[in-house]
Amino acid sequence: MISQQTIQQILSRIDIIEVVGGFVRLKKRGANYMGLCPFHNEKSPSFTVSPVKEIYKCFGCGRSGNTISFLMEHEKYTYVEALRWLANKYNVEIEETEKSPEQKIQQQLAESLFIINGYAQRFFSEALLHSEQGQDIALSYLKQRGFREDIIRKFQLGFCPEERDAFAKAALAAQYNLEYLQKSGLVVVRDDKPVDNYRGRIIFPIHNQTGKIIGFGARIIKSNDRAPKYINTPENEIYSKSKILYGSYFARQAIDKNDECLLVEGYTDVISLHQAGIENVVASGGTSLTQDQLRLVKKYTNNLTIIYDGDSAGVKAALRGLDMALEEGLNVKLVLIPDKEDPDSYVNKVGADSFREFIAANKKDFILFQLEVSLKDAQGDSNKKAAVVNQVAETIAKINKAEDFTKQQDYIRQCSQLLRIEEGGLHTLVNKFIRERISKQENRQPEQPAGFPEEIFQEPLSGEEESFQLLFRDEMHERAMIRSLLEFGIKPWDENRRVADYIFGEAIDHDMIDNKQLVRILETYRTWYDEGLEPTARNFLYHEDQTLSALVVSIMDFPYELSLNWKEHFEGKINTREDLYKEEVFSTLNYLKLRKIKRLIDINQQDLEKQHSPEEQMVLIQTHQHLKGMERDLLSSLGTVIVK
Ligand code: UTP
Ligand code: MN
Repeated sequence: MISQQTIQQILSRIDIIEVVGGFVRLKKRGANYMGLCPFHNEKSPSFTVSPVKEIYKCFGCGRSGNTISFLMEHEKYTYVEALRWLANKYNVEIEETEKSPEQKIQQQLAESLFIINGYAQRFFSEALLHSEQGQDIALSYLKQRGFREDIIRKFQLGFCPEERDAFAKAALAAQYNLEYLQKSGLVVVRDDKPVDNYRGRIIFPIHNQTGKIIGFGARIIKSNDRAPKYINTPENEIYSKSKILYGSYFARQAIDKNDECLLVEGYTDVISLHQAGIENVVASGGTSLTQDQLRLVKKYTNNLTIIYDGDSAGVKAALRGLDMALEEGLNVKLVLIPDKEDPDSYVNKVGADSFREFIAANKKDFILFQLEVSLKDAQGDSNKKAAVVNQVAETIAKINKAEDFTKQQDYIRQCSQLLRIEEGGLHTLVNKFIRERISKQENRQPEQPAGFPEEIFQEPLSGEEESFQLLFRDEMHERAMIRSLLEFGIKPWDENRRVADYIFGEAIDHDMIDNKQLVRILETYRTWYDEGLEPTARNFLYHEDQTLSALVVSIMDFPYELSLNWKEHFEGKINTREDLYKEEVFSTLNYLKLRKIKRLIDINQQDLEKQHSPEEQMVLIQTHQHLKGMERDLLSSLGTVIVK
């Protein structure tokens, strides 16, 4: 965990124009900067960055956020990765909160493996591009297959020399630890001697989401029956096959722009398509897709197009991942490459344009494809056909998002035609699977969706316009109070106290604020403040929890101002919120107090209407009078300030 102090330091240095400007060409336009949106394709700029508000917004596609969310969206970083990237950029030393000893060892090992892999990549690239053996054996092979040198460099391809231990020797001489070299899979010990695991092979480095090398694929050059075609990095602290999609580091922005991810089988398929200008492509390594890989795709897009060769075992393997893909809400399409070609050989044969056209023209819906395959398989066998019907109904039932309802209906229609069965019958069967799934889910603890509107309107709405309005107005005052805390909290209140001291000293309690997310902001502020920090809206703007940061953005944009009447009152003088901050703090806080008192009066009133003993009656009446008195006092002090 990065300490709050470090985060504060990083945030204080952020310059959104500098950060976003590193990825997007920005031009100054008035107070803002504009550029072509990096999140969708456009010809004229609608992407706006505000240095004052420290946010960006695209008026074309609607994406918006702050510097950290920009890095998270554009570079696909996690929150922590984005912070580390910024810390590095601004030379802020990261102070970590305490880790357990196991965590420390784990992290150290992971870091060592990254360092070794980086070293190995440089060694292999050097051998490929600059050694005689590399040029003669490996570079010539790659060139003869049509790979250009710029692409070879971009993907950092390499060559491991044919000697027994060329790499091991160099790495040990450079003081790398033998144990770690073995863990990385680069070196194996045979007859007590360290030898290279990938000798004589072409090296494909595999990058993680931030571009660091987590492992390698090593391809034999001349095919050989006794040796495997590829040797891959063994599972270790940083390499986990089931979580990797080769090429995702190079594809991430193109996937975002095209809103589609192409999936192929092999390393060379990815690289050839890139070379042809098709960059939204990743490879699975030919095995069936895992949940982790699907989630990785889902981070970028909902549209997955699988491009495999027609007779590949990979198609069957991918089919096995289909149900999972549907559950993840992905739209899966399939393109089969004809004539025993694979995407690499096919794009080399027909060229980039024809390849694109072929993909566009031959995309098949994956559910229908699966059905065709199984139907062919079940030909004439009525038992098998019944199983196919069941299987297809179960698959369709997995499309479970409300917004995909029409998609589901479409599938039922199309599949019943292919199956030559009654549409109604298939419908009933699909519903049965849906019911089964729901009852299974109900036995589990349901997850609370963190939707933004629900967060704002916590109480169930009666549906009547009036109560909705009332609730909104009430919440406006809650927001206004939190906003004055965020904005003015560290300003002086009186000689000894700051605004925050005053607000917390006024026994502001949780039942004065209905929206639980606003209570969280208040509590987080209090914790930070007690730790000696000087929190502002910025700290929340960059909060790890996106619901909080989104809420703070909307609070700070909130159209709450002292009313015009108030300004007219002081005609001639220009009173900004800044001048009047004490009044604002006072009035927003006391409005909430007033509301609480009004609520207590109501409750008391309802109680009064019930049957009571004379003594109880007396107490209730006294309470009523007491509350009314408090209300009057508050109203008279509030009367000096007019709140919209
Ligand atoms: P392919 O045999 O289709 O290889 O395996 P390729 O990528 O097209 O390579 P070229 O074009 O023949 O040079 C597809 C993928 O399956 C994995 C690799 O990830 C490979 O890219 N694979 C294949 C292995 O891991 N080990 C193997 O022995 C073979
Ligand atoms: Mn191939």
